[in-house]
Amino acid sequence: MKIKTRPNSRFCVAPMMAWTDKHCRYLHRLYSPNALLFTEMVTTGAILYGQDDRLAFNTEEHAIALQLGGNDPNELSKCCVIAEDYGYDEINLNVGCPSDRVQSGSFGASLMLQPELVAECVKAMSEVTNLLISVKCRIGVEKGTSENLYTEERFQDFMTSLYQAGCDRVYLHARKAILGSLTPAQNRAIPPLNYSMGSKIKELFPDLELIINGGIQSVETAKSMLNWADGVMLGRAAYHQPRILSEIDNELCGTTISDEKSIVSKYARYAEDQVMKGTKLRDLTKPLLHAFHGKKGARKFRQILSDNIALSNNDFALINKAIEQIEV
Ligand SMILES: Cc1cc2nc3c(=O)[nH]c(=O)nc-3n(C[C@H](O)[C@H](O)[C@H](O)COP(=O)(O)O)c2cc1C
Repeated sequence: MKIKTRPNSRFCVAPMMAWTDKHCRYLHRLYSPNALLFTEMVTTGAILYGQDDRLAFNTEEHAIALQLGGNDPNELSKCCVIAEDYGYDEINLNVGCPSDRVQSGSFGASLMLQPELVAECVKAMSEVTNLLISVKCRIGVEKGTSENLYTEERFQDFMTSLYQAGCDRVYLHARKAILGSLTPAQNRAIPPLNYSMGSKIKELFPDLELIINGGIQSVETAKSMLNWADGVMLGRAAYHQPRILSEIDNELCGTTISDEKSIVSKYARYAEDQVMKGTKLRDLTKPLLHAFHGKKGARKFRQILSDNIALSNNDFALINKAIEQIEV
């Protein structure tokens, strides 16, 4: 199949379970017109057999990639067809999540031990859709025993297999995943970052689009990564300090940085509309708690947004009241 579009991946916001839901992405889009946004990982089971609509998104969120979790080529293909109908711009396969739940389903990071299966999944997915199929993975995976040492050669073999299967865009979290002994949060902090593994892969596969991820917390670091990587992906920094999204957009695309109060006011209008449609205010204020990071009045802003009574009453005037606390 011919790829319909190739969303710009120079600057991306990482998929983050329970964080990057559609409201969070709407907010992030207000901060950055150009970042490629990702859904949280959605399992094939949730799409094919679940009760809730896990795929709906706001049109304003484009460009948006759906991240799928699964290991069955047939089920993944079915999900790709559904995702294309929804209007997603890219489909990404999760080959990096280390959680126990994901491990017991033998997908996520444990797929790094099965390159043939990943290749089969990518091929099957590419056959049924015009959307770009990408992969997000780690630089290796360990189970804590010496027989399972994931060497650099093994990682290169994994990438070769992926590339030969037709995957030419990879988001690389530059850490190994340690399965079995670390929690997901520890797996994002304890295994050391190894960006040079990413740059070696880029040298070996110059036509592979490599987007580097892990520990990028400043505009300067993002820019320096772009000396060798094709793109940067930010996770926690984007969530906890969303203003960085405007700063990177400005640096990379020359976009004018909007005043943060006006961004949050626009989000307040979106929240009002969403509450009218039945969304709980609490779900809408969650990503907003990190706005105005480090600015005078940010603490009071958060306190007001955490007012339990107003939240339970879905009193959306709460957001504008909170904005008034910000001094600049
Ligand atoms: C709360 C949370 C949830 C995450 N969920 C996912 C996920 O669903 N899929 C995925 O590929 N990575 C997930 N990640 C990993 C991030 O996408 C990213 O790879 C990681 O946080 C490293 O980037 P950072 O240092 O910029 O945060 C999650 C990270 C966090 C903090």
